[in-house]
Amino acid sequence: MLLNTINEVRAEVKKWRAEGLKVGLVPTMGALHEGHLSLIKRAKTECDKVVVSVFVNPIQFGPSEDFDKYPRTLDEDMKLCDGEGVDIVFAPTPKEMYGDCRLSNDCLTYVCPPFFFVDKLCGKSRVGHFDGVCTVVMKLFNIVQPDCAFFGQKDAQQVIIIKKMVRDLNIPVEVIQCPIVRENSGLALSSRNKYLSDEGKKDALVLSQILNNIKACYKKGVTDIEALKETAYSYLTEKHDLEYLEIYNKNTLEEEMDANDNSIALIACKVEGVRLIDNIYFSEV
Ligand code: PAF
Repeated sequence: MLLNTINEVRAEVKKWRAEGLKVGLVPTMGALHEGHLSLIKRAKTECDKVVVSVFVNPIQFGPSEDFDKYPRTLDEDMKLCDGEGVDIVFAPTPKEMYGDCRLSNDCLTYVCPPFFFVDKLCGKSRVGHFDGVCTVVMKLFNIVQPDCAFFGQKDAQQVIIIKKMVRDLNIPVEVIQCPIVRENSGLALSSRNKYLSDEGKKDALVLSQILNNIKACYKKGVTDIEALKETAYSYLTEKHDLEYLEIYNKNTLEEEMDANDNSIALIACKVEGVRLIDNIYFSEV
């Protein structure tokens, strides 16, 4: 069922709650791919009812970012959601979400994560991005009031920040993190892969290759973080515009003295002007 208004969603979810059903939310910006479908499938196994939100959130894009050209494919998204047995697709307009409010932070009440968590990785180049993410996710939590919400590990910084928001603000939602889904080639699925040419897709494989190699070196006993990061340089060519490559603690995003089983390597790199991100855990435990 496609719903566009907050009131309709609230009315439907209210009926489910009265029946004691468990509600799951999968927040998305649409252009759904197998990565999103894995979140939806997981939500279907853990919840009685599943809401997928499809909303390209203007306040998480910077002025020079791809908000206008971000792929919008609601008809295809609807078909995919129907195929997975999604109960509600909530696709509001920006006006429905933000009213007539000027979308600036002197006008809208924002949820802003602590500087420590945003002054690094994606937050460093995408100033204000996580304020926009937390604000819209908080709004979606308030609108849908789910028991569980499902996010992908590909946006590792996003999930950590959302888990922190949930804990800090006592939001009664369980945040469930789901693994990265990759093409057979190793490329992490992303709606932005649509912007890449065939050649660009090949060049983009470097991200997962760098991460796999770092993990392999760690498994062979290298724990020096600078030495692990240096292994990346042999993969990079003039086609790669590396934004960051970092190795942090996977739960806190803190720097550590040496790599260990709690480490995560995270990379952001532009290929054909398309900003791609990926990450890998050093150990699954
Ligand atoms: O990960 C995304 O697609 C977005 O950041 C989210 C969580 C749907 C908020 O707009």
